[in-house]
Amino acid sequence: MTPTNYCSRFSVPSLLLFIFGCLLFSSCGESGDASGVVPAEIALIPAPVQLQPGEGTFSLEKGAVIGIPADEEDWNIVATQLSRQLEIATGELFEVQITTEAPITIVVDESIEDGEAYRLSVTEDQIAISAGNARGAFYGVQSLLQLLPPAALARQKQLDLPLPIPVVTVEDAPRFSYRGMHLDVGRHFFDTEAVKRFLDLMALHKYNTFHWHLTEDQGWRIEIKQYPKLTEVGGFRKETLVGHFSEQPHEFDGRRYGGYYTQDEVREIVAYARERFITVVPEIELPGHAQAAIAAYPELGCLDEPVEVMTVWGVSENVYCPTEYTFNFLENVIDEVVALFPGEYFHIGGDECPKKQWEESAFCQELIKQKGLKDEFELQSYFIRRVEEMLTARGKRLIGWDEILEGGLAPNATVMSWRGMQGGIEAAGEGHDVVMTPTDYCYLDYYQSQNPDEPLAIGGFLPIEKVYAFNPVPDELAADKRQHIIGAQANIWTEYIPTVDQLFYMAYPRASAMAEVLWSPAEGRDFSDFSERLIPHFARLEAMGIKPAFRFFDPNGAISSIAGDVEVSLSNNVPGSTIHFTLDGTDPTADDAPYTAPISITGTTTVKAGTFINRVQKGKNWTGHIQWHQAIGKSIALTDQPAEKYSRGGASSLINGVFGSERQFGDQEWLGFEGKDLEVVIDLGSVMPVREVTGRFFEDTGAWIHFPARLEVAISNDGTQYSGLGEKTTVDRKATGKVGTVTISLPAETTTRYVKVKAYNQGNIPEGYAGAGYPAWLFAGELVVN
Ligand code: ACM
Repeated sequence: MTPTNYCSRFSVPSLLLFIFGCLLFSSCGESGDASGVVPAEIALIPAPVQLQPGEGTFSLEKGAVIGIPADEEDWNIVATQLSRQLEIATGELFEVQITTEAPITIVVDESIEDGEAYRLSVTEDQIAISAGNARGAFYGVQSLLQLLPPAALARQKQLDLPLPIPVVTVEDAPRFSYRGMHLDVGRHFFDTEAVKRFLDLMALHKYNTFHWHLTEDQGWRIEIKQYPKLTEVGGFRKETLVGHFSEQPHEFDGRRYGGYYTQDEVREIVAYARERFITVVPEIELPGHAQAAIAAYPELGCLDEPVEVMTVWGVSENVYCPTEYTFNFLENVIDEVVALFPGEYFHIGGDECPKKQWEESAFCQELIKQKGLKDEFELQSYFIRRVEEMLTARGKRLIGWDEILEGGLAPNATVMSWRGMQGGIEAAGEGHDVVMTPTDYCYLDYYQSQNPDEPLAIGGFLPIEKVYAFNPVPDELAADKRQHIIGAQANIWTEYIPTVDQLFYMAYPRASAMAEVLWSPAEGRDFSDFSERLIPHFARLEAMGIKPAFRFFDPNGAISSIAGDVEVSLSNNVPGSTIHFTLDGTDPTADDAPYTAPISITGTTTVKAGTFINRVQKGKNWTGHIQWHQAIGKSIALTDQPAEKYSRGGASSLINGVFGSERQFGDQEWLGFEGKDLEVVIDLGSVMPVREVTGRFFEDTGAWIHFPARLEVAISNDGTQYSGLGEKTTVDRKATGKVGTVTISLPAETTTRYVKVKAYNQGNIPEGYAGAGYPAWLFAGELVVN
């Protein structure tokens, strides 16, 4: 997208979707300067199926009545939600009555068949929300609240009546029936107040399923009356890892940490969710991720010795032993959990269950023989089938992570596909229902920006535009199987999310983008149109009391080097904005050069760029540093190609003067080789003096990335006859023990045209490291020739 002079006010992404907007750019920004009291504009998220704006406004007056069709609980819930929110925002009462004549009326329209569909009609005289049932009407109310100024969503009085509401007709229904958000409360605990706010935000975005990840290696969070030690012991860990799991040596904070929900609190959350038409799916993890339970009741494990609640992140080898004691325990737990959650689904986890203890357990090996099972994977299937029987007997449906496919899938299971889409494709092909939640698009614990000041995250890179581009129904899935993709889900794992503020920072606005993936029609979905609506939406998020991430506003920079030239290209996703930049390392202002075309760089330079709307900067600077050296922009050839996933920048990214991120190997400056060496030949174009050759490599042993065992450099004047310039063997594998860059330099005092660089992969990962026995990854960044 061109960032400057973006003059289109809106785009019309499909014939069905008409979004009109007069955007009020002053209503949001890094500083959170949303006053939120400006009159409404029409900018609904998620976008409705059809929206037809009209002329004029409806005036919401003091004393307006909200009419419902009958005195039934669900209609009352919908109307009460609306009246309560309007009362909070305006300080006035809005009475609910059974009538069709009120200024705001909720009407039954049996011709609207989809249970979640609605029609919202605002005329100058009346607001009518029509739906086949209360659930649909609830979504009509969410759209209506977005027609009001953002402060209508505030948690205290900010608005005075009367309020103008634009005349409009909306016809709407969701694309998917399962629209989920997941929250891991095991790694970090979030109290009932935080969970309620999480549900409020979900409701605004028309999500309908809350996947509550209640048990983990690092904490058991739900009271089970028959097993009080689950929370007394399993609910607390003695301390918590500080910093990233990949950093060595591990350091701890020395502080006891924990918490849990009583059954009364669980009932309170389930009722709160129900009032927002959100079903809560509890997850009780098995057979893996069970260390906290085993810490409480060691008989559940395969070892004879006691274990503690886990204090580091990662996957524990302490898993449930498939004994009758364990099955009896699980049956009792399930009994209590089922009584608390009225929804159809029960999530049993099923992911990441290391088989080591089962392999070493005489009991498990005997059980495998006795049941005629092939191996430990079939033992896992046996485990899951036993649990499925318990759930079926209690009228529940089993849902689990895609590992439940391994060793045979329980007949009625629904699969949550997280390790990519393949598990989901396979399961749907076999006729199972599927919820798509692949890491690459759905893991909101990944970094959302490559800005080095981003708070520590687990890794990965998932910017909002990538979330928005997610298609839960892969093209390769046969047409007659597509109905099995019942929806998708955004997941929030909380190893690196210790606070409520950070939870919402990671969730929003990316979960706003996911809401549109799940609700709005696939055809016509358009990121720049979404961006226009997102700008005023920030003010709603802030009105609801959260601090969303403003990374959406940051410029993106790309640095390319071709034929001796280095160019910096800048862009952003922000309609109506201008990018200004500097080349002298100072912070840009609106008086600095506006970006109009790629910037040519000819020496060591720091580029800083910012997004400005009406001369005010939004978001943060993008900073790019080009460290000039002799190989920049010259030609380079790779002997072996990097893995496709980690090859975005191409070979030229090794000699563009840009050092990759110190924290994220996913950026385009790093090329990743799985089990392979790096070998390149750089052609400097003519024979020239060379003083030093330096390779930059990434180390993140937790992610299986090891710096090279050895670096060799050879030189040649003709490109055929090479002589060795030298080599350096790296002895200490723990050179840094951190996530970061390792630099290996070879001095030279020579002249040459061709420089051949070879970095040797460490081979298979040794014991004591994550991924032991598997091929190591080698990640190469800049090759600096001075
Ligand atoms: C998962 O991320 N382990 C489901």
